[in-house]
Amino acid sequence: MADTCCHSAVIGAASKLLGREATARDVVQLAVDGRAGRGLPYGLEPGGPLTERDRDEDSRRLAAESLAAGDPTGWFERLYAESAMGEAIVPWDSQTPHPLLVEWLPTALGSGVGRRVLVVGCGLGDDAEYVARFGYDTVAFDVSESAVRLAQERFPDSTVDYRAADLLASLTEWRHAFDLVVEIMTVQALPEHLHARAIDSVSGFVGPGGTLLVIASAREEGGPVFAPPWPLTPSEIASFASEGLVTDRIEDLRDPERHRCRATFHRPALSE
Ligand SMILES: C[S@@+](CC[C@H](N)C(=O)[O-])C[C@H]1O[C@@H](n2cnc3c(N)ncnc32)[C@H](O)[C@@H]1O
Repeated sequence: MADTCCHSAVIGAASKLLGREATARDVVQLAVDGRAGRGLPYGLEPGGPLTERDRDEDSRRLAAESLAAGDPTGWFERLYAESAMGEAIVPWDSQTPHPLLVEWLPTALGSGVGRRVLVVGCGLGDDAEYVARFGYDTVAFDVSESAVRLAQERFPDSTVDYRAADLLASLTEWRHAFDLVVEIMTVQALPEHLHARAIDSVSGFVGPGGTLLVIASAREEGGPVFAPPWPLTPSEIASFASEGLVTDRIEDLRDPERHRCRATFHRPALSE
């Protein structure tokens, strides 16, 4: 927990980053409690007990510092770099592909041979490695160079082309270039005012005839945020159908512990 003298600076900067709809409670939650999570904090219930050293402690600390400095993404590099030295925990590192991806991919698209896939915000590579097993020509990127290096070290025989790149930058070489784009919990890791830009960027990667898979923490429109992350609202999820994409299916998935969504979109083939 940040000490009291830092709170006003953190809260001031966090207010700007959270945007107009943030409540004082949201900002305090970010600055003081700051629990990260997947719709709920990364594994924790809001208001639940904190342990001496829970899995979210390092991400909370680094996110609060980075956001207070006006840098919405710098904390990812610091978190992965510290984790590489055994000094921090990456709370979303489950060492397995996301279960909602594993459930979807085998029946959704069949063989990936001859098809290109882009994995957005790939972290330590489990989802990219899983997708590549289906024969996809796989590119995976993350804003953190350390994450990319760690993924390459974890999977030295990988066929995945891991790259360091920023979703918020102009990535023109990948525009309309992929048959499948996999976005899992990256947009939500960014402050709310950056979501529209990030969503447009993700949608823009899908090529003619291609599919976009989005898996994210979800919340009601205007619902509370215990940031980071900033779970996606129904209108944000629907807005992936921009840049010429068409919605295929939006699943609202709720269990007692979390609220998530899995959504798919496609870009009509040129002949359609
Ligand atoms: C919550 S983690 C999810 C990681 C992975 N997709 C997973 O599901 O385990 C968000 C990831 O997005 C990456 N990220 C955040 N902002 C990014 C950006 N602007 N461009 C590319 N990657 C970004 C972070 O470094 C981090 O690896």
